[in-house]
Amino acid sequence: MNTKIKLPHTDFEISRMIFGCWAIVGGFNWGHQEERDSLAAIKEAYDAGITCFDTAEAYGNGSSENMLAKALKGERSHIIIASKVGPQDFAPEKVIKACERGLKNLQTDYIDLYQLHWPNPVIPLSDTLGALDQLKQSGKIRAYGVSNFGEKSLAECKTFGYQVSSNQMAYNLLFRAIEYRILPKCMEDRIPVLCYSPIMQGLLTGKFTSAEDVPDDRARTRHFTKDRPHSRHQDKGCEELTFKTIRAIQDVAVELGVSMEGLSLAWLLAQEGVGGVIVGGRNPAQVRKNMETLKINLSVDTLDRLNEITEQLKDVLGENADLWQTDTRVV
Ligand SMILES: NC(=O)c1ccc[n+]([C@@H]2O[C@H](COP(=O)([O-])OP(=O)(O)OC[C@H]3O[C@@H](n4cnc5c(N)ncnc54)[C@H](OP(=O)(O)O)[C@@H]3O)[C@@H](O)[C@H]2O)c1
Repeated sequence: MNTKIKLPHTDFEISRMIFGCWAIVGGFNWGHQEERDSLAAIKEAYDAGITCFDTAEAYGNGSSENMLAKALKGERSHIIIASKVGPQDFAPEKVIKACERGLKNLQTDYIDLYQLHWPNPVIPLSDTLGALDQLKQSGKIRAYGVSNFGEKSLAECKTFGYQVSSNQMAYNLLFRAIEYRILPKCMEDRIPVLCYSPIMQGLLTGKFTSAEDVPDDRARTRHFTKDRPHSRHQDKGCEELTFKTIRAIQDVAVELGVSMEGLSLAWLLAQEGVGGVIVGGRNPAQVRKNMETLKINLSVDTLDRLNEITEQLKDVLGENADLWQTDTRVV
């Protein structure tokens, strides 16, 4: 398995295992987190060979970017920083200002990959992408990507000839919505997909045995009933099927003698069109465990079996690639 790839329209490579810097800020979705664990997790990822780190201003209002700078001070030239600008800042002058804030938080004078976090259907995409081109020309960013972009937004990028280097999407064994239309479109446009929530926020480690075990913040996804307190969707959920599927994946992991998270990440890395997996880790032990993925080689039979096991869930959750909303924001 290739452990690195070169992103299109760039002159740099990224590690296909990418460290996700959302959960390390704790708070919303994640609960209490000690900063020393976060800093140690980032350092562990770097020492284990991860060179690409995904963050966003939205993660702790800049504190994730801050923490990344603090943990890897002195290593700037060896790492690839992927950060994001939120849709509320897509007006061209706001994109520039958000980038300036990001540079300050990250204590650097360039961001390697600057991504549009979610589509904003109100602001013309060509205006926003024009601002990204401007940032690229001025050297403040080296490349730009998108995130949660569906077919319509991707088609617009193509029509205007913008040089999109990646599309970050929710993709894992329990959430295969992008396989219907978005992944094929990305492959057609030669835009690698960077998969977020690749172990479904911990569900694919086997640590939760029933829907009731899952904390409310994490049970906001469309797998769970809309009656969970923080839910923003109107779906009835598919809790029983989700946990039946998890148990079946767990059985395969046990049979092969690998961890369930390793199996899940290795399956993703074997999918055509997938550039990398962005996996979170809240302490060095989780990072070490996730890195074992690189030792796992799955046979075609195992890949087929995992596809079969997860097919019904894929069917029930359908084509909507928004993990959290029925009224999809992925356009
Ligand atoms: N573009 C977007 O809209 C978007 C959206 C979401 C995420 N992202 C990016 O994708 C990254 C990853 O996604 P994610 O954080 O949502 O989900 P994830 O990577 O699927 O899950 C990460 C969480 O799973 C648990 N975990 C990780 N490794 C483990 C292990 N070996 N054993 C047991 N538990 C383990 C940890 O939480 P606990 O210990 O608390 O269980 C960890 O925070 C984020 O950090 C962010 O960079 C982007």
